[in-house]
Amino acid sequence: MESQEKIKIRVCQGTTCFVMGASRLEGLETQIPPQWRQKVEISAQPCLGMCQKAGFMKAPFVRIGDEIIGSATVDSVLEKLSGIFK
Ligand code: FES
Repeated sequence: MESQEKIKIRVCQGTTCFVMGASRLEGLETQIPPQWRQKVEISAQPCLGMCQKAGFMKAPFVRIGDEIIGSATVDSVLEKLSGIFK
């Protein structure tokens, strides 16, 4: 049986990321192209700890698989995914 593990997308909902523009990520789920939707799992997560490590100016943060991207937007998340699903 073949099961493909989904790419986990964790959108930080911590205070810093929220204040710094987590709203820029609103609608992410609906903007993911249909061919990728079955391959990802999106959820909200409390502070990823990156606002302390990388600095709050780089918020909002999103974890995609094992990688965390800063200054995340819907576009930057989609770009990352296009690299993964190419
Ligand atoms: S609030 Fe998002 S990483 Fe801390």
